[in-house]
Formats: sequence, structure tokens, C-alpha cells
Amino acid sequence: MNFQRILVIGGSGFIGRHIVAKLAARGHSVLVPTRRRERAKHLIMLPGVEVIEANIFERTSLLSLIAQCDAVINCVGILHSRRGEPYGPDFAKVHVDLPRQIASGMKTHGVKRLLHLSALGASSEAPSMYLRSKADGEAVLKAEHDLDLTIFRPSVVFGPEDSFMNLFARLARYLPILVLGNTEARFQPVYVEDVALACVNALENRATYKKFYKLCGPKVYTLRELVQFACSASGRPRVIIGLPTVLARLQAWLLEFAPGGPLMSRDNIDSMKLPNIAPADWKMAPELGIKRLTPLEQEAPVYLALLNPRSQYNRFRARARR
Ligand SMILES: NC(=O)c1ccc[n+]([C@@H]2O[C@H](COP(=O)([O-])OP(=O)(O)OC[C@H]3O[C@@H](n4cnc5c(N)ncnc54)[C@H](OP(=O)(O)O)[C@@H]3O)[C@@H](O)[C@H]2O)c1
Repeated sequence: MNFQRILVIGGSGFIGRHIVAKLAARGHSVLVPTRRRERAKHLIMLPGVEVIEANIFERTSLLSLIAQCDAVINCVGILHSRRGEPYGPDFAKVHVDLPRQIASGMKTHGVKRLLHLSALGASSEAPSMYLRSKADGEAVLKAEHDLDLTIFRPSVVFGPEDSFMNLFARLARYLPILVLGNTEARFQPVYVEDVALACVNALENRATYKKFYKLCGPKVYTLRELVQFACSASGRPRVIIGLPTVLARLQAWLLEFAPGGPLMSRDNIDSMKLPNIAPADWKMAPELGIKRLTPLEQEAPVYLALLNPRSQYNRFRARARR
């Protein structure tokens, strides 16, 4: 099936923008709604990409967006919410109600193809609100049997504008020692370009319909190793001191009030109670067309070097991608 026009909801975000760029490069026409067009100006220059301001939580707007397209990719997600059981109202709105509205709008307009970004570890039994709400979002979509649905569950995603490696590199800028909880939590970071390629390859491949894919990188790291890596690659190697869970939650609670929005939350700490990794025998599904998973060591130093104030040379190299 050749899709003519793809609606990428959340297409202005970290992962979404890579998906949009790949779709555009393959000649698709792409529609990207955003709350602020300014936020998506990097997409405006791409051929075949239309960026419009819209409120995706408003049913009429969402319906009118879906009506213009024949496939939908949902990349909307948040990391923080007010608290609640089994999750807070912000997670409920973004991770559960929005997918429900998308599915209902697609049914109204007879659009069947949907790619949805969930998260590794999503489960109604998970220790965090984030992962419980992601599980309910998946459940809402799986219940819509008419949808040609593909769900992706990435581990933490790294890439130039990520909010994970960059966060620790930035903290190292201000703090001589990093004091962190969950230092032994395990992750299997996956490169943003690999995630985007998997999504774009899946779009028109019927073998991926009704399938749910874990997306992980080639190697497992502890949080301590990742933070050490981010600090060193940005030119500020730091000593990392582990905190017991009670103190880590207290620290996260304080960081929930950081100016400009939470830097970390108690819910993030809860997410780390379970390893964010694939089973040992996991392999990237061949139909996703990723021949070689990109190692963190290959790409992360390129963009983390940009945060190194002393290394003008590194900055030039990073820009030249050498
Ligand atoms: N990044 C990771 O490491 C990672 C790991 C696992 C799973 N995921 C999942 O992958 C998806 C994409 O993640 P991402 O890192 O690309 O997210 P992101 O950079 O935060 O982008 C989220 C997008 O959602 C849009 N959005 C619309 N309404 C929103 C609202 N009320 N609150 C927040 N955002 C809103 C934003 O668009 P505007 O601001 O332009 O309106 C933004 O482009 C999410 O579902 C996420 O849970 C990400």
C-alpha cells in the first residue's frame, strides 16, 4: 500500500522530527500539527512537509487533521504528570485519551494505518505511572481490531536533542560531583535514527501490521555508566555518588519544582525499578530493516562534544560529523 499523506502527531518532537525527515526523504507528503509553529520551524523547510498549529486534544481539530491523511503516526508522549492512581491526569490525557481519540477519528474517516510509539516496560503492573499509562494507551488501540496497528516500545533513545544523555552532560556543567539514585538501573539505549528508520520501514510493510516491537540498542549499560559516559564525552568527567532509594525519591521530589519544569520526578525513579532492557535472546525484527544497531559510542560523543566549552576543535569535527 502506498500512503500519500501521513499525519505525524508529535512530529515536532525529538523522535518525531527524525521520522518526518525520513518520510520526506522518501517522497511522502507529511502533515505535522504543533502547539507552536515556532517549535517546528526545523521541519518547515523539508520538501512535502506541512506544519500547522492545531490543538490535537480538541476533537474537531483532530478529526480535520485525520481527514486529510491516509496514515497516522503518533509520537506524542510526556515524562511528567501530576500524581494519581493508577496514573495522574496528564498521563491519562496524553497517553490514554489521545490514542483513544486518534483511533475513533481514524474510524470516522476510514483511515486504518496507525504507528504508535509506546515505551519498553509498558505494563499495567509497572512500578511507574508513566509505564502504566503507556500500557493503557496500548490496550485502547489493541481493542480496535479494524486498525492496521504497529506499536513500538523503545528503551531510552539517544541522539542529538535527547533529554537523557544531554541532561547529565548539562548537570556536569554546574555540579562538580553528581549524586544520583538508581545508579545500577539498567538501560539498552537505542539511536534515534534507528528508531525512525524502523518506523518508516514499517509504515508500508504489511508484515508489521498487528505487531508490537521492542526497540533497543546493541548494548546494556547501568545508569552510572551512562552518566559517566555523558560527562566524559562532554569534557567534564565527574565522580558519581549513588543515593539510597529514599533519598533519591526526595531529590527527585525537589527536582519536580525546578524552574522551567521538572528535571526529574519521583515517577522517573519508580520507572527505573525494573531494568529497561530486552530479553537476552532479543534481536531486532528483520522486517524493520535495521541491518546494524548504532552503538552509543559511535554517535553520542559527536553531539555531546558540542557541550564541551574548551574544545572548539571537537565542535568543528562534530559539525562535520567526522
Ligand atoms: N525519548 C525517549 O527516550 C523515549 C523512550 C521511550 C519511548 N518514548 C516515546 O516516544 C514518543 C516520542 O518521544 P519524544 O522523546 O520524541 O517526545 P518529545 O520530544 O517530548 O515530543 C513530544 C511531542 O508531542 C507533542 N505534544 C502535543 N501535545 C503535547 C502535550 N500536551 N504535552 C507534551 N507534548 C505534546 C509535542 O509537540 P509540540 O510541542 O510541537 O506541540 C512534541 O513534539 C513518546 O510517546 C515517548 O513516550 C520516548
